[in-house]
Amino acid sequence: MSTENSLQFALEPHPGPTPADQIASSLENPVFGRVFTDHMVTIRWTDGRGWHDARVEARRPFQIDPACAVLHYAQEIFEGMKAYRGEGGKISLFRPLENARRFRASAARMSMADLPEATFLQAVEALVDIDRAWIPGSQGSLYLRPFMFASENFLGVRASAEFIFCVIACPVGPYFKPGKSAVTVWVSDQYTRAASGGTGAAKCGGNYAASLIAQTEAAAKGCDQVVFLDAAEHRWIEELGGMNVFFVMDDGSLRTPPLKGTILPGITRASIIELARHEGIAVNETPYDFASWRADAASGRVRETFACGTAAVVTAIGQVRHAGGEFTIGNGGEGEVTQRLRALLTGIQRGSIADPFGWVHHVA
Ligand code: PLP
Ligand code: COI
Repeated sequence: MSTENSLQFALEPHPGPTPADQIASSLENPVFGRVFTDHMVTIRWTDGRGWHDARVEARRPFQIDPACAVLHYAQEIFEGMKAYRGEGGKISLFRPLENARRFRASAARMSMADLPEATFLQAVEALVDIDRAWIPGSQGSLYLRPFMFASENFLGVRASAEFIFCVIACPVGPYFKPGKSAVTVWVSDQYTRAASGGTGAAKCGGNYAASLIAQTEAAAKGCDQVVFLDAAEHRWIEELGGMNVFFVMDDGSLRTPPLKGTILPGITRASIIELARHEGIAVNETPYDFASWRADAASGRVRETFACGTAAVVTAIGQVRHAGGEFTIGNGGEGEVTQRLRALLTGIQRGSIADPFGWVHHVA
């Protein structure tokens, strides 16, 4: 963990926080990313001064000059993580230092200020603490969105000399329509997400901006998510618009595309790999091409396929559509291995299953 003296956060609580009964009704069936808590955390960085002006304050709009660098050159990164209310009301985060580390890696790739891991964690915990009433119980969670953007007003093309780091939060339920046992994906043969040497491994807004046309196309085809193939050959499976992907083979092993700089190193992906190996399941981080996936789904060599990520957790892929047709994975629903890994992962995250890995971080 990078060390640096921790910042003092000025605490300016919301003057009129949301009443408890209103929070309770917002927590009933929250649509992902639509309902926000009362507060936010902000920290500013300027060249020469470093990180300063840390605040926990009422959530409010930023005042942005039209020349603000992020509006022109998209120098922006973000993270996605969740706080859970476990048994006995205990509040926890899942592997938050991994998010802090990835945030630093994204910042380095995007020529942005380096936020120490301890400060990232302090900021996230401060928001979770002040907005703890917004953490749903049972199957819900509080989705946390730390992000940073270039805030210098300057149109020359170079790294900004000023940044704002912020954390906001929203209570969430399932990312996909509840009650669906498996999702349908669209394989984009036209658009790619990231090329070698590009920003695929960074969690930067620009990657998502470039992916939206393919996601829109997927939605038009009646699909929930888009599957991207590699940029060089349009052949190798990379990842989904907002999730990593795993295949369950007929020998019981898992297969997932390797991290070569073009896909996001998912924390859920890393956890599934460790968890599966702990369960005695072999995992191969090996390239897999789309034609083989289709043939193997037909022959039964691929039994299951699932997507994984903070928002999606572990979600079975049942149906695959592409320019040449459509195929089904297994019986089109959630397979046994997917179900088992999902139950183990969510059990650890929510504290109903013992955590042998030291992944669960309790918030005091
Ligand atoms: N890939 C992409 C493109 C994502 O947006 C996400 C979600 O954050 C993931 C993979 C999964 O990453 P994680 O498991 O860290 O949430
Ligand atoms: C996340 O899982 O945190 C993401 O950023 C993906 C997005 C689909 C919300």
